[in-house]
Amino acid sequence: KYQGEATMESTFIMIKPDGVQRGLIGEIISRFEKKGFYLKAMKFITVERSFAEKHYADLATKPFFGGLVEYIISGPVVAMVWEGKDVVATGRRIIGATRPWEASPGTIRGDFAVEVGRNVIHGSDAVESAQKEIALWFPEGVSEWKSQMHPWIYE
Ligand code: TYD
Repeated sequence: KYQGEATMESTFIMIKPDGVQRGLIGEIISRFEKKGFYLKAMKFITVERSFAEKHYADLATKPFFGGLVEYIISGPVVAMVWEGKDVVATGRRIIGATRPWEASPGTIRGDFAVEVGRNVIHGSDAVESAQKEIALWFPEGVSEWKSQMHPWIYE
């Protein structure tokens, strides 16, 4: 896939409680902004157990599920929708591998995380899951706006 062929899409990105409490919100948002992606929606919230279980429903049978839910509900998170060409896959590359010891330096997890259970950030893994996650976290919908930077970032 070459850049001109890539389609505009949205992804769901969440700064987890460790990222918030370690003061990484600005750093993380900055990386997505500087790349040329657009912040379409953002909220700072603490979610309930049932909500976290719904977000991670696909992992319900995993041994780490209980600990993962405890971690996500332990404090406020920053929930965001980012838009851009190929932003789902590229966002995952900016974030880095799930296990921080496998994440390359220069990625968010490679630079700021050590443990898989404290890996700072979530990003949707596919366009389909992004749509599901955006609908779950932003049931009120996401308002449209167009950045003035657009012609300088996209051909
Ligand atoms: P997963 O969806 O596999 O990874 P990603 O967040 O990169 O999409 O897993 C969701 C989260 O579950 C992951 O970010 C951290 C946690 N987790 C563990 O705590 N232990 C594990 O062994 C794995 C695979 C994930």
